[in-house]
Amino acid sequence: MVEESTKIDNIDLKETALAVKNLSKIYDSSAGRVVALDNLSFSVKKGEFVSIAGPSGSGKSTLLNMVGALDRPTSGHVYINGIDIFALNDSMIATMRNNLIGFIFQSFNLINRTTVLKNVKLPGTISGMSPSDANARAMKILEALGIADKATQKPVNLSGGQQQRVAIARALVNNPAIVLADEPTGNLDTKTGEDVFDMLKTLSHKFKRTIIMVTHNPELAESTDRSILIRDGRIEKDVVN
Ligand SMILES: Nc1ncnc2c1ncn2[C@@H]1O[C@H](COP(=O)(O)OP(=O)(O)OP(=O)(O)O)[C@@H](O)[C@H]1O
Ligand SMILES: [Mg+2]
Repeated sequence: MVEESTKIDNIDLKETALAVKNLSKIYDSSAGRVVALDNLSFSVKKGEFVSIAGPSGSGKSTLLNMVGALDRPTSGHVYINGIDIFALNDSMIATMRNNLIGFIFQSFNLINRTTVLKNVKLPGTISGMSPSDANARAMKILEALGIADKATQKPVNLSGGQQQRVAIARALVNNPAIVLADEPTGNLDTKTGEDVFDMLKTLSHKFKRTIIMVTHNPELAESTDRSILIRDGRIEKDVVN
């Protein structure tokens, strides 16, 4: 039945970019057992801009790593555009990660031995875009983000704000279902951080991107559509701003 396959727990997956269901992550190491995520469930509508805040060690990065399929949960499900990601095999998960998810990190994570343009094209190239399509798409995004003139430079020669724009461009090249940003303004001064945040806001409101952003900055958190507060691996608060 179509009805059944497009709904879980009354969440319409057609309207939902991300659904997290009973997600747990337990780290077992010599140092002991840490419940980093404790049976967490929530969903994010297409086009929503959601912030995630919480004390250090509350599980924010772990959550983003699970949602971004960088690591497997101990139990539970992550649905992106209705696809049950962890029901897939590792190679399919890697494909989904490249095609459905855009990542933005605090420390940019750009490849410094190659050019800005090549950094931005990379996810497109991996997903099988032709070189000319990948080039055209990457240049179009760099233009939209105001850094097309940096295309042939190495990221290391750019300012922090410019490097984060390159990372945002790279995150968008495959037209992902969700964009995940882990403290994208954390390494930037206040003004540059606000510029980067405004860019994410524009992407969300003007271009209808779905964005999930971890931030320690309460002002930025309140300026998103919805704020989720995490404590001890659980959702403590979930408010529409
Ligand atoms: N690879 C790992 N092995 C063992 N424990 C881990 C691992 N990664 C995270 N943890 C633990 O899981 C818990 C959640 O960590 P996480 O990095 O998700 O927190 P966070 O909310 O992102 O914190 P911060 O604000 O400092 O970035 C912490 O207790 C942490 O020590
Ligand atoms: Mg973290």
